[in-house]
Parts: sequence; structure tokens; C-alpha cells
Amino acid sequence: MDTRHFLSLSDAGGDALAAMLADAIDRKAARAGLPRGRADADAPLAGHVLGMIFEKASTRTRVSFDIAMRQLGGSALILDSGTSQLGRGESVADTARVLGRMVDAIMVRTDDHAKAEELARHAGVPVINGLTDRSHPCQIVADLLTLVERGKALPGLELAWMGDGNNVLHSLLEAAALFRFNVRVATPAGYEPEMEFVDMARAAGSTVTLTQDAAAAAAGADVVVTDTWVSMGQEHTHNKLAAMAPYQVGSKLMAGAKRDALFLHCLPAHVGEEVTEEVFEGHQSAVFDEAENRIHAQKSILLWCFGRL
Ligand code: CP
Ligand code: NVA
Repeated sequence: MDTRHFLSLSDAGGDALAAMLADAIDRKAARAGLPRGRADADAPLAGHVLGMIFEKASTRTRVSFDIAMRQLGGSALILDSGTSQLGRGESVADTARVLGRMVDAIMVRTDDHAKAEELARHAGVPVINGLTDRSHPCQIVADLLTLVERGKALPGLELAWMGDGNNVLHSLLEAAALFRFNVRVATPAGYEPEMEFVDMARAAGSTVTLTQDAAAAAAGADVVVTDTWVSMGQEHTHNKLAAMAPYQVGSKLMAGAKRDALFLHCLPAHVGEEVTEEVFEGHQSAVFDEAENRIHAQKSILLWCFGRL
């Protein structure tokens, strides 16, 4: 088997992703009620170590991968750029070759997607994208899991994205291509997603609408999704925040969506900016299921990378 990297959702493809979602649901149910750090009965990754490289902050990705490895019977360790030689200029290629001899897989969170690709070229072990400037595939596996759990069939689903055309939206568009759901993207002018991802979804048969009209995008949607207006590494400019203001997800916007529409946000949220407190804390919000599902999604991603799925 070739080394299985998970730098984008397309690395796995639709069939493998569907298998991951099914596996995540089964594993989650099978261990209900157990202490979070106890291994699953089959401990399929016993003895395996995941090395996690962080060049940016993280709460969910960091904790969920660590707990995921424990639940699979393995363990994880963290290198952050401030305390590793990577932060002092050691090359990505050398770091990859060293880690590839010490750990069984690598997860990387970095500003520069090209660095994740460079790691994958040199590591000789699976490399997982834990967020780059370009995409956030692991997040979207957790989002899809949350939707399926809540009884939403993915093909044909109408998702509305509000705000910044960012890395999380890129992976969502990639998922749309693989699962044939539709995405209405409402952004201010100049903050659209990269067209490569829009074209990918359209080429696969999904309908992707790009609009500056938030209410039109939300009208009749099954799911309304947003994210921070200022991603890590971006500048907090007054102009950007002002441009984003009409895309805040509030009760009025949600009222235009389907009655049983869900609200998703990868977190961390800036309540009062991209979402109002009423929606964030309201009955349509699935954001904490989404966060918990990062664990269950990571487990399936890891199992796929190790050829166990
Ligand atoms: N959603 C997400 O990736 O959260 P963290 O930045 O806390 O890892
Ligand atoms: N778009 C955000 C997601 C954080 C999980 C960022 O890149 O900072």
C-alpha cells in the first residue's frame, strides 16, 4: 500500500470518506460511557505514535488527535514551532525525514500548505493536514459526521456559508464535490473562496452559488455555516470586519432557512461578530456536537491512513 496522506478530502475520496463516517458512528456508539482516555476494545493502533506539529494555536485539533490516538490504543506527542528546531530554521524536509523514523504518522498545522506537502514528500509515513491556509479537511469530516448523526442525508443537502471565503469553506466545497451536496456561498466582494474549489464542486455536479446576499443564500437552507471573520495569520482590519457585518448569522437569517436547519461553526467562535449569542446558544446550534465529533472523525482518518479502513 502506498503511504496514505490526508492533506485534502480528495486524498481519500468519497467512498473512503463514507466508510470513515460509518466507522466513526459505530466506534462512537461502541464506547459510549467509557472514560475518554480508555482504549477501544480492539485497540487497533496499539503501539503507534502520532507526532503533531503546531505552527499555529489549537485547542480542538490538538486535544482531539491526542484523545483519538489514546482511544485507538496509541499515543501522540506535540512539537510546536516555538520549542522545536523547526522554529529555528531546520528544513521541513529534514524534519520530515527525522520524524518519519521516530513516529508512525504526522499531523501538521501550518500557515503554508506547501509545507504540509513537503512533509508528505519526505516523511515516508502518513501526513495529516490539521489546518493550513488552504484547507481544513479534518474539520469537515467532523462536520459531515455531525450532519449525518442529526439525520441529514448529504446528497442534495443545501448548505449556506456566511462570511469569509476561507480554508474551512474550501474543504466544505471539496466535500460538496465528493458527496454531491450544494453550497450557497455568501461573502462580501473580494472575500470569495478560491475558484479552484468552486470549480471542483461544480464539475462534480454540485450547485455552488456565489452571492453577496446573505438572506438569499440562507433562504430554505438545510444548514447554515460560518467561521471566524479573521483566520489565524490574517490581519484584523477594520475594513474587513465592516465588510463582514452583513453576514452575521442571527435569528432573522436562521428564520429564513428551513425550520429544522442546523447551525454549524468549527470554533473558536467570536460571538457578537460572525454569530449572535441567540443563534450560537440556540436549539439549532450543533457546535458542541461538532467539536466532540472531532475525536471520532480523527479516529477514522487515522485508521484510514494506517490502512485499517
Ligand atoms: N476547529 C478547530 O480546528 O479548532 P482548533 O483551532 O482549536 O484546533
Ligand atoms: N478559519 C479559521 C479556522 C480555525 C479553526 C482559521 O484558519 O483560523
